[in-house]
Order: sequence, then structure tokens, then C-alpha cells
Amino acid sequence: MSSEQAGREQQLTDRVVASFDATADPRLKEVMGALTRHLHAFVREVRLTEAEWQQAIAFLTATGHITDERRQEFILLSDVLGASMQTVTVNNQAYENATEATVVGPFFVEGSPLIPLGGDISGGAPGEPCWVEGTVTDTRGAPIPNARIEVWEADDDGLYDVQYGDDRVAARGHFFTDAEGAYRFWAIVPTPYPIPHDGPVGRLLAATGRSPMRASHLHFLVEAAGSRTLVTHIFVRGDELLDRDSVFGVRDSLVKDFEAQPPGTPTPDGRDLGDHRWTRVRFDIVLAPEV
Ligand code: BEZ
Ligand code: FE
Repeated sequence: MSSEQAGREQQLTDRVVASFDATADPRLKEVMGALTRHLHAFVREVRLTEAEWQQAIAFLTATGHITDERRQEFILLSDVLGASMQTVTVNNQAYENATEATVVGPFFVEGSPLIPLGGDISGGAPGEPCWVEGTVTDTRGAPIPNARIEVWEADDDGLYDVQYGDDRVAARGHFFTDAEGAYRFWAIVPTPYPIPHDGPVGRLLAATGRSPMRASHLHFLVEAAGSRTLVTHIFVRGDELLDRDSVFGVRDSLVKDFEAQPPGTPTPDGRDLGDHRWTRVRFDIVLAPEV
């Protein structure tokens, strides 16, 4: 490329950045300037053709058309590009031994049922019973009583309750830690499932040879006064999808041992599961202080 051409391209970028000079909100000015510089750098680096520009507009238009109150294709796009996870990473900087955060995903629902400690969140969702227990502490190990914990997960068929299109509420709930900061509940063993892939994001994954599958996981949202709210999941050690999670949500520290118990093994709370297999996992949660 001639230096004259490079100069023309750079001049245009500079003019667009300067067009935001009068922005009253300094943060908006910073964001728009950086967006312009990076977007122009991308167009110039790949030498974007006009046909590709048209294709990009068509892709974003389709992403908008499939989006409604139940389906958020733009968030899915952000997820598969790693932009959601990068935002989580930027905003939840490592703090001492605090538990790491990961993406919230689209299936958290306000107003989940209150479950007594030791209760069952499955609500009839198919899956192998899984006993989950742990504590919530601060970074110095002091227990945090009365922390609110929300949990949600897909069933054995890889679907969240809200994906069935009826009014069922299953495999989700909330509860509070006891005076020792401890919690315990019955869930189901998480299994792998695909993110919704019947839209433009699914077509993008197919065109790039990527899988829509998420590594098996159980979601947690933990809130306590004076602590940084934690949105995270735990993953299953040994799951072959751990290193190719479609939304890049896996962190090593969140991979836990889900220990399968032979049929007939007594359960921690005396629940009678007959001859069924069950599994147990421990997840001790450490909350960073609120900033
Ligand atoms: C989820 O974990 O529920 C999820 C996260 C990102 C995209 C789709 C689903
Ligand atoms: Fe999920």
C-alpha cells in the first residue's frame, strides 16, 4: 500500500475520532474514540471488501430480528466472541483467594423458589441427584451467615425450565447460609448442553467449525452485605468440553470433583434414594469485600 493511501485512511480515522471532541460526558468520549480507532483498525487490517461489509450488516440485522424478550441473540454473539467473559474478567479482578467469577448466561430468572437448607432444587427436572455443600466465607476465612445463594442449571435433556415454553419452574432456587456460613442442597448432576444455535450465531459457529456446546456446569449467584456479589458456575472435573466451552466461561479454579456414589451409599441427610446412584460435590465460596 502506498504511503499516500495509508495517510488517507489514517486521516479519516483521525477525523472521526475528532468528531467526538465536544462530547460532554468524558467517559462517552473515551469509549467512542476507542471504538472508532479499533473499528477502523479492523477494517484496515482485513482490507474489508464492500461485499463483506454488506454481509456484516445482514448478519447484524438477522441478529436483531431473532431477538425478543425471550431470545437475546446479541448477548449470545458477545458470549461466543468472548466479549462477555472479557467484561467479567475486567470487572472482577482477582482479589486474594476470592472465588472467581464467570458469565451469567441468559437463563437466570428473578423470583426463584426459596428452598430450605438441605432441600431439593430439582423440582422434578430429570437428572441424577447431586448433593452440593460448602461454606461462604470472606477472604480471611470468617464465615458469612445469611448470604443469599441463587442456583440454576439445565436438566438431563440439556434444557433450562424457561426453554420449555410452559410455566414450569425446575432446577433453580435460592436459600441462605446458616449461622456458620454453611449451605447444602440437592440438585442434579450437570450435563453438557448447546447454547441456542438455530440463529445467526449458530450459523457463525458452524461456518467457523466451532461447537455450540457448553461444558457441564451449575450456576451460582452469591450476595452478602459488605461483599462483592459473585456470579459464577462450578464445572465437572473430567468433562471433555472443559477446554472448548463455547462461551469461554471455564476457569481452572471452578472445576470441582463431582464424586459419584455407588447405589445404596447412605446419603448425607438420610434421604432414601433406593438403588439409585447419586453424586456429591463440595464448593467453598470466598467473597471479596465490596469496593
Ligand atoms: C449459560 O450458561 O446458561 C449460557 C451462557 C452463555 C450463553 C448461553 C448459555
Ligand atoms: Fe448455563
